[in-house]
Amino acid sequence: MYDIDTIRADFPILSREVNGKPLTYLDNGASAQKPKVVIDAITRAYAEEYSNVHRGLHFLSNLSTERYEAVRGTISKFLNTGDENTIVLNSGTTEGINLVAYGWAMPRFQPGDEIVLSVMEHHANIVPWHFLRERQGVVLKWVDVAADGSLDPQAVIDAIGPKTKLVAVTQCSNVLGTIVDVKSITQGAHAKGVPVLVDGSQGAVHMPVDVQDIGCDFYAITGHKLYGPTGSGAIYIRPERMAEMQPFLGGGDMIREVSKDRVIYNDPPMKFEAGTPGIVQIIGLGVALDYMMGLGLDNIASHEASLRAYAEQRFSGLNWLNIQGQAADKAAIFSFTMEGAAHPHDISTILDKRGVAVRAGHHCAGPLMDHLGVTATCRASFGLYNTTDEIDTLIDALELAHELFS
Ligand code: ALA
Repeated sequence: MYDIDTIRADFPILSREVNGKPLTYLDNGASAQKPKVVIDAITRAYAEEYSNVHRGLHFLSNLSTERYEAVRGTISKFLNTGDENTIVLNSGTTEGINLVAYGWAMPRFQPGDEIVLSVMEHHANIVPWHFLRERQGVVLKWVDVAADGSLDPQAVIDAIGPKTKLVAVTQCSNVLGTIVDVKSITQGAHAKGVPVLVDGSQGAVHMPVDVQDIGCDFYAITGHKLYGPTGSGAIYIRPERMAEMQPFLGGGDMIREVSKDRVIYNDPPMKFEAGTPGIVQIIGLGVALDYMMGLGLDNIASHEASLRAYAEQRFSGLNWLNIQGQAADKAAIFSFTMEGAAHPHDISTILDKRGVAVRAGHHCAGPLMDHLGVTATCRASFGLYNTTDEIDTLIDALELAHELFS
């Protein structure tokens, strides 16, 4: 049973006040709060079990290596990869996608080759591809979203031409909440011989993910949105693609042997993990994913679906609020603007006075802002610990903002 009071009690920060009001934390899309088990695991790792990994033969080094390496298995289970050696540990999706850009795409792509993207990608799934455009003459092909914010998988597949070398799409828009049918996109792209990268930064937070079922080539996740520490993350890489990749960062750990005139790399996935990693961050991520799996990924998704339904019902009474994106399949992420020209920053400041934390701005999604014809929105993004009472608090605060600005 999904006992929301018990779950909320697992997150110490949720009981604090902000500006004299109980915290209503609705900025989960930017970063989620951490359960006590994660905070305790970080403290324990530093206080009792800390050393560098993969390097020593002493007790603590072996212990940290064991704790750290176990997380590869946890992530593998979380994404149902079927093989933990498909997981490259890193600091988050940005690093994961840059690894693919530098290690897989750059050595392989020629001028005129194309990458197909949707207009609702986050900058982390845009800027690394701009590097290829700027440096190698690669062409970025953009697929629009429909008026309701949905992305037609067939439109993505139709955009694939003979020069397309990669499709890179999000599974869930960080702005609109739109859930993308990445499985159909992958099937259509693979039928044309084109690999698919999925940005799972938001998707993995809101729904169970099975990368074998999706069939994609790359799937990137970010730990701090998954109730884990900042600076933690991973990317799933299909073994055939991993075999094609060159290392991106060079340094310790990713090598087996180095001499003055040659270097022999470590086996994948360690070939792609240079330098001392975020040991404690990754250990914390493992605990966060175990926490989520303990609650049940389906249970989290259904709790969030009920939040979405309740929020939609409450928003429908506010005819001065423009919700951006109303796709049938969407996560509990709501971007909005307010009639009366109140700037999203001003709205978020009023909400903050009521203890309500939302994000205001472009949400690192420039092409989507252009597509929507706005420079910024306010965004309320829900997580596994949010409640319908908090939606009521949000609505009250929005009504106050509307009164002040109209
Ligand atoms: N990607 C994060 C967001 O959507 C930072 O807010």
